[in-house]
Amino acid sequence: MTFDFTGKVALVTGGESGIGASIAKELSRLGCAIIITYFTKVELAESVLTEANNNGLQNLIVKCDIRDEGSVINLFNRAKNTFGKIDFLINSAGIRSHDKPLAGLSLSDFKNTIATNLFGVFLCAKYFINQHEQFRDGRIINITSIHQEIVSASKTDYCASKFGVKGLSKALALEVAEKNITVNCIAPGMVLTPMNKKAIDDLNYRAEQEKRIPLQYAALPIEVANMAIFLCSPQAKYITGTTQIVDGGLSLNRSKGAK
Ligand SMILES: NC(=O)c1ccc[n+]([C@@H]2O[C@H](COP(=O)([O-])OP(=O)(O)OC[C@H]3O[C@@H](n4cnc5c(N)ncnc54)[C@H](OP(=O)(O)O)[C@@H]3O)[C@@H](O)[C@H]2O)c1
Repeated sequence: MTFDFTGKVALVTGGESGIGASIAKELSRLGCAIIITYFTKVELAESVLTEANNNGLQNLIVKCDIRDEGSVINLFNRAKNTFGKIDFLINSAGIRSHDKPLAGLSLSDFKNTIATNLFGVFLCAKYFINQHEQFRDGRIINITSIHQEIVSASKTDYCASKFGVKGLSKALALEVAEKNITVNCIAPGMVLTPMNKKAIDDLNYRAEQEKRIPLQYAALPIEVANMAIFLCSPQAKYITGTTQIVDGGLSLNRSKGAK
């Protein structure tokens, strides 16, 4: 299967780091113009931008806090003014669990996880669909987690946010199908990104975690990006309302739990 995204424009939230950066770079390599957001790390965004610009296309980086509606409106205005349209929205920005039992979890920490991982997806999807009143075609891909399917203790905030995105995605898929917009989730297992810094820095910890993965290794971001590329492609135009699990079989190991 070959992919060519010449003439397409993708907006990747969190496109400066981890999974989002890998998706943005792959799309760019395949001819797609990219808009990537960063929250705190402008130097990472500039590095992805430089790599994308080397592919000979116009690209854009925008600072955005996806919890904040004004910031998201600014993002979509900047994108529209620069490109006139967005074909693909990839919601990758997110934060990890606060990893605390619910009884010890503060309301502000719980709200922060929900505001980032769920409200952020809601806001970006809303303004993406609004700009599609004119274009009536598009793809929304939400990077969730196997924690949209299976649960772990001390991750109530994260599980609530990711189960929420799964529900939002299915309902939205139904709502926007007539506009020819598809909505799908990709649910990764363990991926070696800054979110999993401990697994990158501590090889013993990583080896312990990898024993629980049937394929015996943690994914690199490109493994998730490959699925995003497929979902953006014409070959995936009939797929909507689904979750594509990319976890090396981790979610099959329910009896061992997924941390
Ligand atoms: N890594 C894994 O094992 C794994 C597994 C399952 C699911 N996921 C999901 O995959 C997605 C990407 O995670 P990753 O592993 O690539 O992590 P990452 O490298 O830490 O990237 C997370 C991105 O989210 C951005 N971000 C955080 N809060 C934000 C906010 N309020 N507004 C805008 N952007 C914000 C960060 O921006 P700054 O860096 O600029 O602050 C960063 O670009 C997340 O939704 C995560 O839940 C990851």
